[in-house]
Amino acid sequence: MDKLKTQITEAIKSLYDIDETAVEFSEVPADIAGDYSTNVAMRIAKRAQKNPRQIAEEIIAKLGDDYTFTVAGPGFINVEISSKKLQEKLANEFNENYGCNESGKGKTAIVEFPSTNMAKPYSVGHLRPGTQGWATKKLLEANGWKVITDNHLGDTGTPFGVWVVGFLRSGKSLDDVTIYDLGQIYIDTKKALKDEAAEEKHELADEVQEWLKKLEAKDPEAVKYSERFNTISLNHIHNVMKRMAISTDLELGESFYAEPGKALVQKYLAEGKFEQNDDGSVICRLDEFGIDVPMLVLKSNGTALYATTDLACMFYRAENYKPDLVVYCVGAEQKFYFEQLFAMGKKLGVPQENFHLWFGTIDQVTEEGKREKMSSRKGVVLLEAMLDDAEARVRENFSGSELSDEDIRKIATGAIKFSDFVADRKTGILYDPNKIFALTGFSGPFCQYADVRLRRILEKNKDFVRVDFSDYDFEAEKELLICLNKFPELVSSIVEKLELHKIAGYCFELAQILNRYYEKTPIIQADDKERSARLWLVEKADYVLAKALDLLGVEIPEKM
Ligand code: ARG
Repeated sequence: MDKLKTQITEAIKSLYDIDETAVEFSEVPADIAGDYSTNVAMRIAKRAQKNPRQIAEEIIAKLGDDYTFTVAGPGFINVEISSKKLQEKLANEFNENYGCNESGKGKTAIVEFPSTNMAKPYSVGHLRPGTQGWATKKLLEANGWKVITDNHLGDTGTPFGVWVVGFLRSGKSLDDVTIYDLGQIYIDTKKALKDEAAEEKHELADEVQEWLKKLEAKDPEAVKYSERFNTISLNHIHNVMKRMAISTDLELGESFYAEPGKALVQKYLAEGKFEQNDDGSVICRLDEFGIDVPMLVLKSNGTALYATTDLACMFYRAENYKPDLVVYCVGAEQKFYFEQLFAMGKKLGVPQENFHLWFGTIDQVTEEGKREKMSSRKGVVLLEAMLDDAEARVRENFSGSELSDEDIRKIATGAIKFSDFVADRKTGILYDPNKIFALTGFSGPFCQYADVRLRRILEKNKDFVRVDFSDYDFEAEKELLICLNKFPELVSSIVEKLELHKIAGYCFELAQILNRYYEKTPIIQADDKERSARLWLVEKADYVLAKALDLLGVEIPEKM
C-alpha cells in the first residue's frame, strides 16, 4: 500500500497543488466492494474547493491499473486488489528473510533485560523485563539492527552484609544452602533489622556494616561467602532464563560500575557539573531539563548508589560498544528515575539515545474479586512457581495427547509470554489463567495451535508433487493473502516506538483467518492444481506465523 499512498500524494500535488502526505487506508468490511478505503478526497475537498466525489474521480484517473478503484458514498476511494496480484506480490517478495528489512543496518542497540537482583529468587516481578526485552531484541534484529543484550544484575554490596549476618544466624551450611534459603534469610534478616531499629538498637546493623567493610578489604572469609552466594544466585537466574528460553550476551552487574561511578562523580564535581551537599552527598541538578528534583549520585558516607552505577554504565557502553540506542526494559515504577538518568546523560554528553521501555505490573484478581498486583500468601510469586503451575495446567488441558516435556514447556511459556503482549505494554496485565492457557481466543496456545496445524498439513503432503498453478485465481485465499502481504510493513512500522503488542494482534488475526480458511477450503482433498496452490500458501503462512511468534519469543511445539 505504501506505493499506492505515494501515487495518491503525487496525484493530489499535480492536480491541486496540495501537499497531502498523510494518506491513510483502512480495511473495509467484507460486505462492501473493495479491500481498502481512503477518505483523502473528503479531507482535501475544502482546500481544493471541489466536490469530494469529483476529486475522487480525478485522483483515480491518475492511478495505474494495478487495482480496481471505485468511488463510494460521499467521496471514499475504495481499492480492490485482485487475489492473483496479491499472490504474485507475495511470490516476488518471499524469501528466507521475509518480513525483515535492513533499515537499521549499521546501527547498534544495547537491550538491557531482565536485570534481576542477586539477593532474591527470580520472582514474577522480573517476568515482563525478560519477555519484553527479548522481543525488543528480536524486533530490532528483524529491522537490521545489531543488538547486544545485557543482564544488568542487581549485585551491589548492601544485601551481601544482610545475607552473611542472616546466614550465620540461620545455622545453615554453605555447601547446601539454596537460593530459596537465601531469599528467606534475606527477608527474615531485613525484618530483624527493622525490629531492632524500632527499639533504637543497632547491633545487627553494625554487623552488616562490618561484613561490607570486610568484603571491600577483600577479607578471605567475606570473599568466600560472597562468591558462594553469587554462584548460587547466578545458577538460579540462568536456570529460570533457560526455561523461559531467553539469554543475554553480557552480564555486567551494578557492582562492576561502582568504582568507575565514584571516580566519575569526583571528575564532574571537579568540573562543577555536580554539587556537594553539606553532609557530603553529591547531586546533579537537572533544572535545565525541567526536572526540579536533583539526582543523588553519591551517598553522604561516600558510597555508591543505584545512580552512581548507572552513570558509569552509560559511559562504559558508549566507549565499548558505541551504541546508537540503549533500551532499558524496566517497570513503570522507575519512570522518574530514568527521566532523571537520561537527563543527566544529556547534561554530561552521553552520545547514545536512551529509551526506557516501561510497562505496568502483573495483576491478579483476588478471591474477593479485587484486582491487585500479583502476590501469594508468602509474599512475592516466584517465577519458577508460576512456570510449574503453567506446566501443570497445560498437562491437564492436553491430558488426552502425549506431549513431550519440551512441548509442554513451550506451550506453558508461550502462553505466559504471549499474554505479555495482548495489550499495550503500558497497561498492567491481568494474569487470568482461564484466558492465558485457553485454546480459543486471544492466547498464545491458540496461535501456536494454528501453526502446528499448518505444519501437520505440510508434513502429510511432503511427497506431493507440485503441479503448475499459474492459472489458479486464489479467490478463496484473498483474506489470507492480504494478511501475509502486510507482514513486512507491520515489522517496519512498529520499530520506531517498539509497539510489540501489535505483533500479538497480528498473530491472532492470522490464526483466525487460517481457521476460517480450513473450515471452507479443502486442501488435501482438492484437485491437484488447487492443492498445490494451497500448499504453496500454507507453507508461506507457516513461515509468517512462526516468524511473528518468534519475534515475541514464543516457540512452536512439535505436537499439540
Ligand atoms: N535490578 C533493577 C531492579 O530490579 C533493575 C535494573 C535496571 N537497569 C538499570 N540500568 N538501572 O529494579
